[in-house]
Amino acid sequence: KKVVLAYSGGLDTSVIVRWLQDTYNCEVVTFTADIGQGEEVEPARAKAEALGVKEIYIEDLREEFVRDYVFPMFRANTIYEGEYLLGTSIARPLIAKRLIDIANETGADAISHGATGKGNDQVRFELGAYALKPGVKVIAPWREWDLNSREKLLKYCEERNIPVEMKKGKSPYSMDANLLHISYEGMNLEDPWAEAEEDMWRWSVSPEAAPDKPTYVELTYKKGDIVAVDGQDMKPHEVLETLNKVAGANGIGRLDIVENRYVGMKSRGCYETPGGTIMLRAHRAIESITLDREVAHLKDSLMPRYAEVIYNGYWWSPEREALQALIDQTQTYVNGTVRLKLYKGNVDVVGRKSDDSLFDEKIATFEEDQGAYDQKDAEGFIKLNALRLRIAAGKGRKL
Ligand code: ARG
Ligand code: SIN
Repeated sequence: KKVVLAYSGGLDTSVIVRWLQDTYNCEVVTFTADIGQGEEVEPARAKAEALGVKEIYIEDLREEFVRDYVFPMFRANTIYEGEYLLGTSIARPLIAKRLIDIANETGADAISHGATGKGNDQVRFELGAYALKPGVKVIAPWREWDLNSREKLLKYCEERNIPVEMKKGKSPYSMDANLLHISYEGMNLEDPWAEAEEDMWRWSVSPEAAPDKPTYVELTYKKGDIVAVDGQDMKPHEVLETLNKVAGANGIGRLDIVENRYVGMKSRGCYETPGGTIMLRAHRAIESITLDREVAHLKDSLMPRYAEVIYNGYWWSPEREALQALIDQTQTYVNGTVRLKLYKGNVDVVGRKSDDSLFDEKIATFEEDQGAYDQKDAEGFIKLNALRLRIAAGKGRKL
């Protein structure tokens, strides 16, 4: 009996290691990944060793995370319920995949995670796991044990000599961080009327405290993905690291919303997504000159559906792959450069250019006609489009 656990090295997942060993009498394999959460992952090794773990996986997945999950999602301009940039949702399929890869490598028949029974994350981990390994066993301690308060957890540690380091200055919020975002839930945020405290935010200054001078950035796209920032070539994760800094310094990317969880409840969350916020604006801008109108509208109409697929945890599904194939196909000519002006919480697109641009000054101009567009053609175009309206009106129909 062997189980692979998504292990952060924190209190909760350390308790889970011991609880799995005690309750299921099984060998625990820990898996800890750097996906840009901004915390060292190496300390998890000593902690796991101290808990008697023999197989310890610690991996840097930052590049894979942005290249294979974040960027494909941004090709669709994805937002959930009009606002949420899916920072947590998009990281879960990668964790699920690695849990299953490691289970296969180590001969484990089960996986485990530290998500509660009330949230989306359990759904995302487990849907992914079942899709990739249909016979896998899932152990979700939070749905099984009665250690549902901090005191009970600490008492459990005390009784079993589990070392707990009470990190000073540790945020009281339920947080989740990766290169795309930090999320904050719980505590005073559980009252949707209560404004978030300024010192909660970690990656951005408030717009009020942002510099009085704007910052300009130029993002260069190839097939819908950013390949350079201010003319400098970068790997996907370096792009996000860079944009998080420059956007955060200008007070960009804070969001405070109440969202609908897949499990049915409404939940209030605050999110910081500095780089993602400007990436969304810039991607729409480069598409505005390179995409055909009907293709653009088609992918826009599918976007909310695609967002829901990701939010609800169906990354590893035939519908997501089908949508992705369509989205990726549309990005063939999404090449060029967008110029942004960042200023006190605002992102303005101030320029866009592309060798694949469909924008034609000669046609769009208000100056003298050049022949490609004959204004007289518009008369018939409008009349025929009005035909059914004229027929109905002629019959005296009310609108
Ligand atoms: N509500 C967001 C989502 O469902 C964020 C979840 C944060 N997860 C966490 N373990 N703190 O995507
Ligand atoms: C959790 O319940 O583990 C975090 C919140 C969520 O998954 O939605």
